[in-house]
Amino acid sequence: MSADALFPARLAAVAERIETTLDRLLSDRVAAGEIARPPRLMGAMRYGAMGGGKRLRPFLLVESALACGGSEAGALVAGAALELVHCYSLIHDDLPAMDDDDMRRGRPTLHKAFDEAAAILAGDGMLTLAFDAMASDEVHPDPAVRLRLVTGLARASGVGGMVGGQALDLDAEGRNSPDGKPLVLGEDEIRILQSMKTGALLAFATEAGALVAGASEEKRAALLGFGKALGAAFQIADDILDVEADAAALGKATGKDAERGKATLVGRLGLAGAKAERDRLARVALETLAGFGEEASMLRAALRFTVERGH
Ligand code: IPE
Ligand code: IPE
Ligand code: MG
Ligand code: MG
Ligand code: MG
Repeated sequence: MSADALFPARLAAVAERIETTLDRLLSDRVAAGEIARPPRLMGAMRYGAMGGGKRLRPFLLVESALACGGSEAGALVAGAALELVHCYSLIHDDLPAMDDDDMRRGRPTLHKAFDEAAAILAGDGMLTLAFDAMASDEVHPDPAVRLRLVTGLARASGVGGMVGGQALDLDAEGRNSPDGKPLVLGEDEIRILQSMKTGALLAFATEAGALVAGASEEKRAALLGFGKALGAAFQIADDILDVEADAAALGKATGKDAERGKATLVGRLGLAGAKAERDRLARVALETLAGFGEEASMLRAALRFTVERGH
């Protein structure tokens, strides 16, 4: 069977293991050094982390580790840590003060199902728990490797990565401009914004897989390049889906990017131009894997899924 034919079952299998790990991390059981876990907060965190989501970032992390000859166990915990950061980013992204969305993964957003304070605190709790999990010796026996992973996750998530990108994304809407009008960003500025808000976590996924597996510097760099190009293609695909997809199939509202004046390559290049750019980036991503053989076939399938997905 081809990797593309095997991909859906493989993605589902990794997602199931990630969910088992998330369930354990988000249990009501108090960890050493903690005082108590408030049940409503834990319920909100489980709502935000469980039930839906493609689990693409943990999948990329696990498959990158396997492609470098690593094992799955440590990669699953690292993947769950990364997924916690991603889920928190979505919870905060949907808040009324940010994108103000009511639907996520086919269900009411967390601030709708609970309340805004619960959504803010659940996000804070998930971000913090992610670093707790990434630092655990289940990820890797060598503390030096864990330190690299923790630092990498911080850089990808923080001011120079996802959080910084979200700030630029809101600036581009014109909220902080004197006239309140959306900024007219150049193509390169949009690329930087998107490489931060979305690309950073996806690129960290593939790089972290290499780190968990103890891969050579050459393989780590190749996988980082793959993640960067895939990440750029991923956000273009998301922006195309905002225009073309059916909201029910997508599980979130559509048609809102143009309405809000979001800086997207769809806005800048038009739909056909954005599709061509998405496909060009997919080819770039594929080339970065030239040094890998069959062991990277699931990464190649994940790239095709990213470009062709309908949700
Ligand atoms: C959505 O990410 C947010 C973006 C970075 C565009 P995903 O499309 O990976 O969301 P889930 O986790 O599958 O819901
Ligand atoms: C989100 O980008 C990027 C994040 C860091 C969460 P979008 O705002 O386009 O994501 P969706 O469309 O709401 O999932
Ligand atoms: Mg957003
Ligand atoms: Mg959004
Ligand atoms: Mg979007």
